[in-house]
Amino acid sequence: MRVLGIETSCDETGVAVYDSTEGLLADRLFSQVDIHARFGGVVPELASRDHIRKALPLIHEVLQAANTPLSAIEGIAYTAGPGLVGALLVGASIGRALGMSLGIPTIGVHHMEGHLLAPMLETHPPEFPFVALLVSGGHTQLVLVDGIGRYTLLGESLDDAAGEAFDKVGKMLGLEYPGGPRVAALALEGTPGLYKFPRPMTNRPGLDFSFSGLKTFVRNTLADAAEAVAPEPVSRQAKADIAFAFEDAVVQTFIIKCRRALQQTGMKILVIAGGVSANLALRAGLQTMVEKERAQLFYAQPRFCTDNGAMIAYAGCQRLVAGESDSLALDVKPRWPLASLPPLGQSTSHPSAT
Ligand code: KG4
Ligand code: ZN
Repeated sequence: MRVLGIETSCDETGVAVYDSTEGLLADRLFSQVDIHARFGGVVPELASRDHIRKALPLIHEVLQAANTPLSAIEGIAYTAGPGLVGALLVGASIGRALGMSLGIPTIGVHHMEGHLLAPMLETHPPEFPFVALLVSGGHTQLVLVDGIGRYTLLGESLDDAAGEAFDKVGKMLGLEYPGGPRVAALALEGTPGLYKFPRPMTNRPGLDFSFSGLKTFVRNTLADAAEAVAPEPVSRQAKADIAFAFEDAVVQTFIIKCRRALQQTGMKILVIAGGVSANLALRAGLQTMVEKERAQLFYAQPRFCTDNGAMIAYAGCQRLVAGESDSLALDVKPRWPLASLPPLGQSTSHPSAT
Protein backbone atom coordinates (compact mmCIF):
# COMPACT_ATOMS: atom_id res chain seq x y z
CA MET A 1 0.00 0.00 0.00
CA ARG A 2 1.29 3.45 -0.95
CA VAL A 3 0.58 6.07 1.71
CA LEU A 4 0.87 9.85 1.80
CA GLY A 5 1.81 11.12 5.27
CA ILE A 6 1.11 14.64 6.53
CA GLU A 7 2.56 16.11 9.74
CA THR A 8 1.35 19.54 10.97
CA SER A 9 1.17 19.19 14.76
CA CYS A 10 3.53 22.02 15.66
CA ASP A 11 6.01 24.19 13.73
CA GLU A 12 7.08 21.85 10.95
CA THR A 13 5.12 20.97 7.81
CA GLY A 14 6.26 17.45 6.92
CA VAL A 15 5.03 15.23 4.09
CA ALA A 16 6.19 11.86 2.79
CA VAL A 17 5.25 8.95 0.56
CA TYR A 18 5.81 5.52 2.13
CA ASP A 19 5.17 2.24 0.35
CA SER A 20 4.60 -0.93 2.39
CA THR A 21 6.77 -2.96 0.01
CA GLU A 22 9.21 -0.39 -1.37
CA GLY A 23 9.77 1.65 1.81
CA LEU A 24 10.18 5.41 2.00
CA LEU A 25 9.95 6.92 -1.50
CA ALA A 26 10.31 10.62 -0.71
CA ASP A 27 9.85 13.15 2.06
CA ARG A 28 9.78 16.93 2.29
CA LEU A 29 9.90 19.30 5.23
CA PHE A 30 9.37 22.99 5.79
CA SER A 31 10.51 24.26 9.16
CA GLN A 32 8.82 27.38 10.53
CA VAL A 33 11.72 28.09 12.89
CA ASP A 34 12.48 31.48 11.30
CA ILE A 35 8.85 32.56 11.69
CA HIS A 36 8.76 31.78 15.43
CA ALA A 37 12.38 32.56 16.41
CA ARG A 38 11.79 36.27 16.98
CA PHE A 39 8.99 35.41 19.44
CA GLY A 40 11.23 32.96 21.33
CA GLY A 41 8.75 30.10 20.87
CA VAL A 42 5.95 28.76 18.68
CA VAL A 43 3.04 31.16 18.05
CA PRO A 44 0.09 28.78 17.38
CA GLU A 45 -1.88 31.06 15.07
CA LEU A 46 1.18 31.77 12.90
CA ALA A 47 1.91 28.04 12.81
CA SER A 48 -1.58 27.17 11.52
CA ARG A 49 -1.49 29.88 8.86
CA ASP A 50 1.88 28.75 7.58
CA HIS A 51 0.83 25.08 7.45
CA ILE A 52 -2.05 26.24 5.21
CA ARG A 53 0.43 28.03 2.95
CA LYS A 54 2.97 25.20 2.74
CA ALA A 55 1.08 21.90 2.90
CA LEU A 56 -0.32 21.70 -0.64
CA PRO A 57 2.85 22.86 -2.46
CA LEU A 58 4.88 20.39 -0.38
CA ILE A 59 2.45 17.56 -1.19
CA HIS A 60 2.82 18.34 -4.91
CA GLU A 61 6.59 18.33 -4.51
CA VAL A 62 6.79 15.06 -2.58
CA LEU A 63 4.48 13.24 -5.01
CA GLN A 64 6.72 14.33 -7.87
CA ALA A 65 9.85 13.28 -6.02
CA ALA A 66 8.24 9.90 -5.29
CA ASN A 67 7.29 9.60 -8.94
CA THR A 68 3.76 8.93 -7.78
CA PRO A 69 0.63 10.60 -9.23
CA LEU A 70 -2.05 11.40 -6.65
CA SER A 71 -4.21 8.69 -8.26
CA ALA A 72 -1.62 6.06 -7.21
CA ILE A 73 -1.90 6.97 -3.50
CA GLU A 74 -3.89 4.25 -1.71
CA GLY A 75 -4.14 5.70 1.78
CA ILE A 76 -3.54 8.92 3.69
CA ALA A 77 -2.08 9.33 7.18
CA TYR A 78 -2.10 12.64 9.03
CA THR A 79 -1.17 13.59 12.58
CA ALA A 80 -4.38 13.71 14.66
CA GLY A 81 -2.69 14.65 17.97
CA PRO A 82 -1.24 15.51 20.38
CA GLY A 83 -0.29 19.01 19.29
CA LEU A 84 -1.62 22.50 18.60
CA VAL A 85 -5.28 22.19 17.69
CA GLY A 86 -5.27 24.73 14.83
CA ALA A 87 -2.12 23.25 13.34
CA LEU A 88 -3.47 19.70 13.62
CA LEU A 89 -6.71 20.74 11.92
CA VAL A 90 -4.83 21.88 8.82
CA GLY A 91 -3.24 18.47 8.18
CA ALA A 92 -6.38 16.60 9.23
CA SER A 93 -8.64 18.64 6.91
CA ILE A 94 -6.32 18.28 3.94
CA GLY A 95 -5.80 14.57 4.61
CA ARG A 96 -9.47 13.82 5.02
CA ALA A 97 -10.53 15.94 2.03
CA LEU A 98 -7.95 14.26 -0.21
CA GLY A 99 -9.00 10.83 1.06
CA MET A 100 -12.68 11.50 0.40
CA SER A 101 -12.08 12.91 -3.07
CA LEU A 102 -9.88 9.95 -4.02
CA GLY A 103 -12.17 7.39 -2.32
CA ILE A 104 -9.30 5.96 -0.26
CA PRO A 105 -8.98 5.30 3.50
CA THR A 106 -7.43 7.87 5.82
CA ILE A 107 -6.09 7.51 9.33
CA GLY A 108 -5.27 9.93 12.16
CA VAL A 109 -1.84 9.05 13.58
CA HIS A 110 -0.63 9.67 17.14
CA HIS A 111 2.37 12.00 16.84
CA MET A 112 4.35 10.17 19.54
CA GLU A 113 3.63 6.79 17.93
CA GLY A 114 5.13 8.34 14.80
CA HIS A 115 8.27 9.33 16.73
CA LEU A 116 8.42 5.94 18.45
CA LEU A 117 8.33 4.07 15.14
CA ALA A 118 10.71 6.40 13.24
CA PRO A 119 13.73 4.12 13.91
CA MET A 120 11.84 1.48 11.87
CA LEU A 121 12.69 3.55 8.78
CA GLU A 122 16.38 2.71 9.22
CA THR A 123 18.19 -0.14 7.44
CA HIS A 124 18.58 -2.05 10.72
CA PRO A 125 15.35 -1.49 12.61
CA PRO A 126 14.82 -2.67 16.21
CA GLU A 127 12.65 -5.73 16.84
CA PHE A 128 9.78 -5.81 19.35
CA PRO A 129 9.67 -5.91 22.33
CA PHE A 130 11.80 -3.04 23.57
CA VAL A 131 12.01 -0.12 25.98
CA ALA A 132 11.60 3.29 24.34
CA LEU A 133 12.72 6.65 25.66
CA LEU A 134 10.59 9.31 23.98
CA VAL A 135 12.17 12.73 24.31
CA SER A 136 10.63 15.63 22.41
CA GLY A 137 9.68 19.24 23.00
CA GLY A 138 6.39 18.21 24.60
CA HIS A 139 7.00 14.72 26.01
CA THR A 140 9.49 12.75 28.09
CA GLN A 141 8.36 9.17 28.55
CA LEU A 142 9.77 5.71 29.13
CA VAL A 143 7.54 3.15 27.45
CA LEU A 144 7.55 -0.64 27.28
CA VAL A 145 6.73 -1.46 23.66
CA ASP A 146 5.43 -4.98 22.98
CA GLY A 147 4.31 -4.14 19.45
CA ILE A 148 2.56 -1.39 17.52
CA GLY A 149 -0.15 -0.01 19.80
CA ARG A 150 0.94 -2.21 22.71
CA TYR A 151 2.42 0.41 24.98
CA THR A 152 2.88 0.42 28.76
CA LEU A 153 3.94 3.71 30.28
CA LEU A 154 6.85 3.08 32.66
CA GLY A 155 7.57 6.67 33.63
CA GLU A 156 7.27 10.26 32.47
CA SER A 157 8.22 13.82 33.30
CA LEU A 158 6.23 15.34 36.12
CA ASP A 159 6.89 18.84 34.78
CA ASP A 160 8.94 20.08 31.79
CA ALA A 161 9.73 17.80 28.86
CA ALA A 162 13.44 17.33 28.13
CA GLY A 163 13.29 19.37 24.90
CA GLU A 164 11.37 22.10 26.69
CA ALA A 165 14.10 22.24 29.37
CA PHE A 166 16.78 22.48 26.64
CA ASP A 167 14.81 25.28 24.97
CA LYS A 168 14.32 27.23 28.22
CA VAL A 169 18.00 26.88 29.15
CA GLY A 170 18.84 28.05 25.63
CA LYS A 171 16.75 31.17 26.23
CA MET A 172 18.52 31.83 29.56
CA LEU A 173 21.88 31.54 27.80
CA GLY A 174 20.73 34.06 25.19
CA LEU A 175 20.51 31.48 22.38
CA GLU A 176 17.91 31.51 19.64
CA TYR A 177 14.83 29.28 19.51
CA PRO A 178 14.84 26.29 19.45
CA GLY A 179 17.55 26.12 22.09
CA GLY A 180 18.13 22.35 22.10
CA PRO A 181 20.60 22.01 19.21
CA ARG A 182 22.24 25.35 20.13
CA VAL A 183 22.76 24.38 23.78
CA ALA A 184 24.28 21.11 22.53
CA ALA A 185 26.62 23.00 20.16
CA LEU A 186 27.69 25.45 22.89
CA ALA A 187 28.23 22.56 25.35
CA LEU A 188 30.97 21.25 23.05
CA GLU A 189 33.08 24.27 24.10
CA GLY A 190 32.36 23.71 27.81
CA THR A 191 34.86 22.53 30.42
CA PRO A 192 33.95 19.11 31.83
CA GLY A 193 33.88 18.84 35.62
CA LEU A 194 33.72 22.57 36.35
CA TYR A 195 30.14 22.41 37.62
CA LYS A 196 28.14 19.47 38.87
CA PHE A 197 24.42 19.93 38.43
CA PRO A 198 21.83 17.70 40.16
CA ARG A 199 20.53 14.55 38.45
CA PRO A 200 16.85 14.98 39.34
CA MET A 201 14.91 12.07 40.89
CA THR A 202 17.70 9.54 40.38
CA ASN A 203 18.30 8.78 44.06
CA ARG A 204 14.81 7.41 44.61
CA PRO A 205 13.13 4.43 42.98
CA GLY A 206 10.88 4.81 39.97
CA LEU A 207 11.13 5.89 36.37
CA ASP A 208 9.61 9.37 36.45
CA PHE A 209 11.52 12.51 35.58
CA SER A 210 11.52 16.15 36.66
CA PHE A 211 13.48 18.88 34.94
CA SER A 212 12.14 22.09 36.49
CA GLY A 213 14.57 21.98 39.46
CA LEU A 214 17.50 21.53 37.10
CA LYS A 215 16.29 24.52 35.11
CA THR A 216 16.21 26.62 38.30
CA PHE A 217 19.73 25.40 39.12
CA VAL A 218 20.89 26.69 35.73
CA ARG A 219 19.20 30.03 36.33
CA ASN A 220 20.86 30.42 39.75
CA THR A 221 24.30 29.36 38.48
CA LEU A 222 24.00 31.85 35.64
CA ALA A 223 22.93 34.61 38.08
CA ASP A 224 25.96 33.85 40.31
CA ALA A 225 28.26 33.92 37.28
CA ALA A 226 26.75 37.27 36.22
CA GLU A 227 27.20 38.74 39.70
CA ALA A 228 30.83 37.61 39.82
CA VAL A 229 31.76 39.50 36.65
CA ALA A 230 29.34 42.48 36.86
CA PRO A 231 29.20 44.97 35.22
CA GLU A 232 30.81 42.88 32.46
CA PRO A 233 28.48 40.38 30.72
CA VAL A 234 28.89 36.64 31.35
CA SER A 235 31.56 35.32 28.99
CA ARG A 236 30.85 32.83 26.20
CA GLN A 237 33.15 30.37 27.96
CA ALA A 238 31.17 30.59 31.22
CA LYS A 239 27.95 30.03 29.27
CA ALA A 240 29.51 27.05 27.51
CA ASP A 241 30.58 25.59 30.88
CA ILE A 242 27.00 25.92 32.15
CA ALA A 243 25.58 24.45 28.92
CA PHE A 244 27.93 21.48 29.29
CA ALA A 245 26.95 20.90 32.93
CA PHE A 246 23.24 21.09 32.08
CA GLU A 247 23.48 18.72 29.12
CA ASP A 248 25.60 16.33 31.16
CA ALA A 249 23.05 16.32 33.99
CA VAL A 250 20.24 15.52 31.54
CA VAL A 251 22.28 12.78 29.84
CA GLN A 252 23.35 11.18 33.14
CA THR A 253 19.74 11.26 34.35
CA PHE A 254 18.59 9.47 31.20
CA ILE A 255 21.40 6.92 31.50
CA ILE A 256 20.38 6.07 35.09
CA LYS A 257 16.66 5.84 34.28
CA CYS A 258 17.10 3.90 31.02
CA ARG A 259 19.41 1.39 32.71
CA ARG A 260 16.81 0.98 35.46
CA ALA A 261 14.04 0.50 32.88
CA LEU A 262 16.05 -2.19 31.03
CA GLN A 263 16.82 -3.99 34.28
CA GLN A 264 13.23 -3.80 35.56
CA THR A 265 11.69 -5.09 32.35
CA GLY A 266 14.46 -7.53 31.38
CA MET A 267 14.57 -5.94 27.93
CA LYS A 268 17.78 -5.93 25.89
CA ILE A 269 16.80 -3.27 23.36
CA LEU A 270 16.57 0.46 24.02
CA VAL A 271 15.05 2.76 21.40
CA ILE A 272 15.32 6.54 21.67
CA ALA A 273 13.07 8.80 19.63
CA GLY A 274 11.89 12.40 19.39
CA GLY A 275 13.83 15.63 18.82
CA VAL A 276 16.20 15.25 21.78
CA SER A 277 17.27 11.79 20.54
CA ALA A 278 19.28 13.70 17.91
CA ASN A 279 21.55 14.85 20.77
CA LEU A 280 25.00 13.34 20.27
CA ALA A 281 26.03 13.40 23.95
CA LEU A 282 22.85 11.49 24.80
CA ARG A 283 23.45 8.90 22.08
CA ALA A 284 27.08 8.40 23.16
CA GLY A 285 26.20 8.14 26.86
CA LEU A 286 23.41 5.64 26.27
CA GLN A 287 25.58 3.62 23.85
CA THR A 288 28.21 3.10 26.57
CA MET A 289 25.49 2.15 29.06
CA VAL A 290 23.76 -0.43 26.81
CA GLU A 291 27.10 -2.07 25.99
CA LYS A 292 27.69 -2.63 29.71
CA GLU A 293 24.16 -4.03 29.99
CA ARG A 294 24.76 -6.30 26.97
CA ALA A 295 21.87 -4.53 25.29
CA GLN A 296 21.46 -2.62 22.01
CA LEU A 297 20.60 1.00 21.25
CA PHE A 298 18.53 2.10 18.25
CA TYR A 299 17.63 5.56 16.97
CA ALA A 300 16.57 7.26 13.75
CA GLN A 301 18.81 9.40 11.57
CA PRO A 302 18.73 13.03 12.86
CA ARG A 303 16.17 14.32 10.33
CA PHE A 304 13.71 11.62 11.45
CA CYS A 305 14.28 12.36 15.17
CA THR A 306 12.67 15.79 14.93
CA ASP A 307 9.19 16.26 13.46
CA ASN A 308 8.81 14.90 9.93
CA GLY A 309 6.27 13.43 7.53
CA ALA A 310 8.06 10.10 7.04
CA MET A 311 7.31 8.84 10.56
CA ILE A 312 3.61 9.68 10.13
CA ALA A 313 3.45 7.98 6.71
CA TYR A 314 5.18 4.90 8.18
CA ALA A 315 3.01 4.64 11.32
CA GLY A 316 -0.18 5.31 9.35
CA CYS A 317 0.78 2.77 6.71
CA GLN A 318 1.15 0.03 9.34
CA ARG A 319 -2.32 0.73 10.73
CA LEU A 320 -3.98 1.15 7.30
CA VAL A 321 -2.48 -2.13 6.09
CA ALA A 322 -3.89 -3.77 9.25
CA GLY A 323 -7.35 -2.61 8.16
CA GLU A 324 -7.76 0.42 10.39
CA SER A 325 -9.21 3.67 9.04
CA ASP A 326 -11.13 6.76 10.14
CA SER A 327 -14.88 6.94 10.54
CA LEU A 328 -16.66 9.88 8.90
CA ALA A 329 -16.20 12.22 11.90
CA LEU A 330 -13.28 14.66 11.64
CA ASP A 331 -11.54 14.74 14.99
CA VAL A 332 -8.18 15.91 16.31
CA LYS A 333 -6.87 15.47 19.84
CA PRO A 334 -4.61 18.16 21.35
CA ARG A 335 -4.10 15.78 24.30
CA TRP A 336 -3.97 12.06 23.70
CA PRO A 337 -2.26 9.49 26.00
CA LEU A 338 -0.03 7.12 24.02
CA ALA A 339 -0.99 4.12 26.16
CA SER A 340 -4.66 4.57 25.17
CA LEU A 341 -3.89 3.58 21.56
CA PRO A 342 -5.35 0.28 20.37
CA PRO A 343 -3.11 -2.62 19.39
CA LEU A 344 -2.52 -2.82 15.64
CA GLY A 345 -5.67 -3.78 13.75
CA GLN A 346 -8.08 -2.94 16.59
CA SER A 347 -9.23 0.55 15.81
CA THR A 348 -12.10 0.81 18.32
CA SER A 349 -10.52 3.56 20.41
CA HIS A 350 -9.19 5.49 17.44
CA PRO A 351 -10.17 9.20 17.82
CA SER A 352 -12.24 9.29 14.67
CA ALA A 353 -13.87 5.96 15.42
CA THR A 354 -15.26 6.91 18.84
O1 KG4 B 1 10.22 15.88 18.38
P1 KG4 B 1 10.38 17.31 18.14
O2 KG4 B 1 10.87 17.77 16.80
O3 KG4 B 1 9.04 18.08 18.35
C1 KG4 B 1 8.11 17.73 19.33
O4 KG4 B 1 7.34 16.76 19.10
O5 KG4 B 1 8.13 18.41 20.37
O6 KG4 B 1 11.34 17.85 19.28
C2 KG4 B 1 11.75 19.17 19.32
C3 KG4 B 1 12.63 19.36 20.54
C4 KG4 B 1 12.97 20.81 20.79
O7 KG4 B 1 12.75 21.09 22.15
C5 KG4 B 1 14.44 20.88 20.41
O8 KG4 B 1 15.14 21.88 21.11
C6 KG4 B 1 14.91 19.49 20.79
O9 KG4 B 1 13.86 18.65 20.38
N1 KG4 B 1 16.16 19.13 20.11
C7 KG4 B 1 17.33 18.90 20.75
C8 KG4 B 1 18.28 18.59 19.76
N2 KG4 B 1 17.67 18.65 18.54
C9 KG4 B 1 16.37 18.97 18.78
N3 KG4 B 1 17.63 18.92 22.06
C10 KG4 B 1 18.91 18.64 22.41
N4 KG4 B 1 19.88 18.35 21.52
C11 KG4 B 1 19.62 18.32 20.20
N5 KG4 B 1 20.59 18.03 19.33
ZN1 ZN C 1 7.49 15.73 17.63
